[in-house]
Amino acid sequence: MRVVSGIQPTGNLHLGNYLGAIRNWVRMQDALEEGSECLFFLADLHALSQPHDPAALRAATLEMTAALVACGIDPDRSVLFNQAQVPQHAELQWLLNGTARMGWLNRMTQWKDKAGKNREGQSVALFTYPVLQAADVLLYQATHVPVGEDQKQHLELARDIAQKFNNDFCPEDAPVFTLPEPIIPGEAARIMSLRDGSAKMSKSDPSEMSRINLADDADTVMQKVRKAKTDPEPLPSEVAGLAARPEAANLVGIYAALAGQEPAAVLAAFGGQGFGAFKPALGELLVETLGPIRERFVALKDDREALDAILARGAARARKRGMPTLDAAYRALGLVRH
Ligand code: TYM
Repeated sequence: MRVVSGIQPTGNLHLGNYLGAIRNWVRMQDALEEGSECLFFLADLHALSQPHDPAALRAATLEMTAALVACGIDPDRSVLFNQAQVPQHAELQWLLNGTARMGWLNRMTQWKDKAGKNREGQSVALFTYPVLQAADVLLYQATHVPVGEDQKQHLELARDIAQKFNNDFCPEDAPVFTLPEPIIPGEAARIMSLRDGSAKMSKSDPSEMSRINLADDADTVMQKVRKAKTDPEPLPSEVAGLAARPEAANLVGIYAALAGQEPAAVLAAFGGQGFGAFKPALGELLVETLGPIRERFVALKDDREALDAILARGAARARKRGMPTLDAAYRALGLVRH
């Protein structure tokens, strides 16, 4: 088993990242058997797809490293690194650009959402970003990729690229790439904004009140939950009653994911009660879960030396892991290098 996943180091780690992906990373790391391995990385090359400030990117990469360690990623057991220190990612992307099709990339919903009506004005990197993402996992022969629901389509693309490359350039019994399987949590695959139940919780939302950051202190968390958008009805007793109530469904979903319960069990306890009772209970559960993570994060985030050392060691290990596949891809394409 080879587990590989990444996160963009832009802004703070928020509750959607944590429940949708990072908590699963930690669980998979902790459950791994002998001979299996996890690689987790900061997708700093991906940041170039949108306007960015170089100094802020540098700081955010280190900060996100501290956040991942605080969440439980252990750099001794998992390979933790940033893409920019492993040039094989960008190299493999170029090789895969010959296999990926314009039509496939044109269908990516994230491209459509982010480009909006101004496609002509976007960077080429925003369009080809999913090919880099495919390279990120195919480079390491990933078998399992823990991600939130919004990344599922990108993973399907990675599988299509791998399949076409294997078909076009490899003997049937010696494919270069493994087809990766997305691992998406059932209960928290899509955490929504606290201000709008129809938009996902996201780093790029301009409103800080829309998301809970892992670095928020207890007062801030309680305040954000108190001010979260809701409707005037009490909570229903059955899950079916949440159908047309996206904000209520989101808060119940967050509670369920944190408590390790089904939404039905949460409604069995809180059905009939108003948000005046439910929100403080949810806030306390959040503070209880995030408090220890925040403490570890604060203790590590300014330790530049320790963070640099973690990333340098992780990158050296990742470069070694990626080399055989990159070599095989060059060879399959008939590119002479020696
Ligand atoms: P990113 O940085 O946007 O998010 C990191 C992880 O968090 C998940 N996530 C969510 N899950 C549930 N609810 C939400 N509101 C929510 N918001 C984010 C994402 O699904 C993701 O798993 N392109 C990727 C980073 C990436 C990557 C990769 C992932 C680059 N290369 C290779 C996997 C494999 C991204 O922008 O994720």
